[in-house]
Amino acid sequence: MPGIAIVGVQWGDEGKGKATDLLASRTDYVVKFNGGNNAGHTVVIGDEKYALHLLPSGILTPGVIPVIGNGVVVDLEVLFEELTALQSRGVDTSKLRISANAHIITNYHRTLDKVTERFLGKRSIGTTGRGIGPAYADKVNRLGIRVQDLFDESILRQKIEGALEAKNHMLTKVYNRRAITCDEIFDDLQQYVDQLRPMVGDTSLELHDALEEGKNVVFEAGQAMMLDIDYGTYPFVTSSTTTSAGAAAGSGIAPSKIDRVVGIVKAYTTRVGSGPFPTELHDEWGDLLRSNGFEFGTTTGRPRRTGWNDTVITRYASRVNGLTDIVLTKLDVLTGIERIPVCVAYDVDGERFDEMPLSQSDYHHAKPIYEELPGWSEDITGAREFADLPVNAQAYVRFLEEYSGSRISAIGVGAARDAIIQVHDLI
Ligand code: IMP
Repeated sequence: MPGIAIVGVQWGDEGKGKATDLLASRTDYVVKFNGGNNAGHTVVIGDEKYALHLLPSGILTPGVIPVIGNGVVVDLEVLFEELTALQSRGVDTSKLRISANAHIITNYHRTLDKVTERFLGKRSIGTTGRGIGPAYADKVNRLGIRVQDLFDESILRQKIEGALEAKNHMLTKVYNRRAITCDEIFDDLQQYVDQLRPMVGDTSLELHDALEEGKNVVFEAGQAMMLDIDYGTYPFVTSSTTTSAGAAAGSGIAPSKIDRVVGIVKAYTTRVGSGPFPTELHDEWGDLLRSNGFEFGTTTGRPRRTGWNDTVITRYASRVNGLTDIVLTKLDVLTGIERIPVCVAYDVDGERFDEMPLSQSDYHHAKPIYEELPGWSEDITGAREFADLPVNAQAYVRFLEEYSGSRISAIGVGAARDAIIQVHDLI
């Protein structure tokens, strides 16, 4: 069963890096198929903490071939910064493969991301400001620059000029900013060409061949279900497909090659940026989850919004992604809370919704309907078997499983790499 997609179920930051890393020792390839350096994985190995934004977390496992697929938007400055930082800590990065069809984030994308957010004022999305949305907009507008364009100077110049034409009008006339020249973008991109060349290839074919040979390929989603461009809380979403369907489109393999879909669910919920969040807490419980769970953005350092677990979201994600397994993360953060509310449905203006409301206006009014479960006070960070958990923690996990529509196959109980209970094998 070699093709495994790993997807976030809530609004990101569920701990996908840890799950991918857990599988990585039995994995031949780890593929990033969407997003860019808006992601943030924190992986703790021994005393070392690694924060990755663009590179797939599998890059930390010797023997694994990390792949940046065609669905990704690549900021070359960030790519080489991350590679250099890892190399200086002795990590072998020489196996990295990058799709020739991946799109490039340039300086004008970063600039546009920031100025448009400012322009939106209180309607702003709260983006990471990394140029992700504008780069995907250019891709869909057929004005994007792809990795392969860097290897043909004349094409590259033509494409930059084409992309800048309308943007410079916008920048100077609407946003009151200076125009960007073709030369500055060209020179900026050119400096990476020689280093980049050996990493670039037909990753669709390479992954196809690997899967045909029975190799294990993990497709690692950036962001999560509720930030998906189609299924998330639009417009407060990212600009790519974060769900399992994106694993195929964003890496050039057939959907039928994906055998398992693993959803990562945090024991509670967090969100960064704007947009609706029915179980959000604005009281001391929210502060407690933020401080105990270290809920500050890996990429931006922003404090995350926090709330109780929402099983309506997990059921929705189970259905749309076709989840075969769930990895529940950060259960230890709930230790010490006497009664733990779990959202089982929504009340929208007096009507009960067991599934995600269809309209965005309804979702903005959704109030959580909670069931309260008894908590536990014992330290669970040393638990390695399900039976090691206090009975109330076991009941909490079982309750989430019952309401989530998929089996829970692993449970994260602490920050350390091995702080995980495996209930079912993921490969
Ligand atoms: P963008 O992806 O920078 O365009 O931001 C769009 C929305 O997605 C904003 O609300 C961001 O905070 C959110 N977002 C993007 N990447 C992540 C992530 O890795 N974790 C959590 N939220 C994210």
